[in-house]
Amino acid sequence: MSKKLNIGLVGFGCVGSGLYDVLNRSNLIDAKIKRIVVQDPKKERSIDQSYFSFDINDILNDPEINVVVELINDSASAFEIVSQALKKGKDVVTANKKMLAEYQAELIPLAKENKVSLLYEGAVAGSIPIIRNLEEYYNNDSLTSVEGILNGTTNYILTQSNSGIGYEEALKSAQELGFAEADPTLDVDGFDSKYKLVLLLKHAFGITVAPKEILNVGIRGISEKEVAYAGEKGYRIKLLSRAEKIGDQVVSFVAPHCISDQHSAYNVHNEFNAVVVEALFSDKQLFYGKGAGSHPTGSAVLSDVSALKFDYQYEYRKAQSNGGLKYTTDAFIKVYIGSKYVNAIEEVAFYSVEETFQSAAYSFQVGWVKLEVLFDLNLNARKDLSLLVLPDSIQTEKGLSELIEKNLFIYENQN
Ligand SMILES: NC(=O)c1ccc[n+]([C@@H]2O[C@H](COP(=O)([O-])OP(=O)(O)OC[C@H]3O[C@@H](n4cnc5c(N)ncnc54)[C@H](OP(=O)(O)O)[C@@H]3O)[C@@H](O)[C@H]2O)c1
Repeated sequence: MSKKLNIGLVGFGCVGSGLYDVLNRSNLIDAKIKRIVVQDPKKERSIDQSYFSFDINDILNDPEINVVVELINDSASAFEIVSQALKKGKDVVTANKKMLAEYQAELIPLAKENKVSLLYEGAVAGSIPIIRNLEEYYNNDSLTSVEGILNGTTNYILTQSNSGIGYEEALKSAQELGFAEADPTLDVDGFDSKYKLVLLLKHAFGITVAPKEILNVGIRGISEKEVAYAGEKGYRIKLLSRAEKIGDQVVSFVAPHCISDQHSAYNVHNEFNAVVVEALFSDKQLFYGKGAGSHPTGSAVLSDVSALKFDYQYEYRKAQSNGGLKYTTDAFIKVYIGSKYVNAIEEVAFYSVEETFQSAAYSFQVGWVKLEVLFDLNLNARKDLSLLVLPDSIQTEKGLSELIEKNLFIYENQN
């Protein structure tokens, strides 16, 4: 028999109020919100004031509340709330990717020890059901790569950039439309995309990686020069979160990519998200949908709540049976690096160079660079260098030297 769900909701902002709406409009789920805890007593609320409290203990200490839905915008406080709820034997649903990425090593065992569920479909790509699919559907097929457009703000800005609008103007328009925060750092520097990637790595490959170990390069450096370079080659620029299996290792990073019309995410525009999953037998599959927003994310949260009726839990089976897969930064990436200053490009330690362009106003170089070199460049903090990752871009040192040898052979035979 399915159990009765009494929800204590923490946070009543964009997603919290979205959950309230979708729960009330869905007559499929027998669950009720008993109490809502928020922060600001002066704020006007759109629903009956009697729901609200400002003390988290009103949820944590209420024995009738068996589900805590955490939807606040502060990862440190969220960690405290979620940990306490799990310790008190309450199931937890959250959409807080930053908290999950930072504290997964603590929270996942805590849920297990207390024999409760910790579900978070809404944390990755909003309404797209990717976590449960990685957990369940792809349980038997060997995944080779997972990549996606996981941040609607940057995809909106890049969609504008690809059609000739400058970064500052596109960012302003994203802020006016409510897609971007006043401080857009987490989005535009690729942190939000990285937190989601950390969760994909866990569910696709069973590996636990701390956010600081993953390279994230955002989109502030994308100028009309990069858009023109990409356009000339028939590419569009997209901020991709990537995780690719090479042998018994997984390479993973977030960066602006040039993608061709052959790429499944080429036509994913504006605030939409997409995840492309590639597996040994099923080949490539595209998941597409709204990656954020009140109702789309509320709907993903509701789906988790509804799964609790049947005591659904993630089993993290790939963490137990991934054949010893390890995360590595020991890989080479094919990139375009552009700058107004030739000296700045010369500072980058390319392993091999395939194309160089220099003029008084702008220069760029295309070639293979070690991932660790890109880490050391600290590209989000630099105004003098722009990065684009090119298609078919990840190699091990062995793979790359074979590729270079093969290309030299073709080149020599052609001349
Ligand atoms: N927005 C999206 O489309 C989206 C999509 C996917 C995931 N998420 C994630 O969902 C979570 C919520 O995002 P949101 O956009 O709904 O945030 P939001 O609109 O800024 O709302 C945040 C809510 O949290 C409350 N709050 C903040 N700190 C609190 C605390 N310590 N105790 C109790 N309540 C507290 C605020 O209270 P007051 O109302 O009193 O200020 C507010 O109701 C975040 O983790 C976010 O990353 C959001």
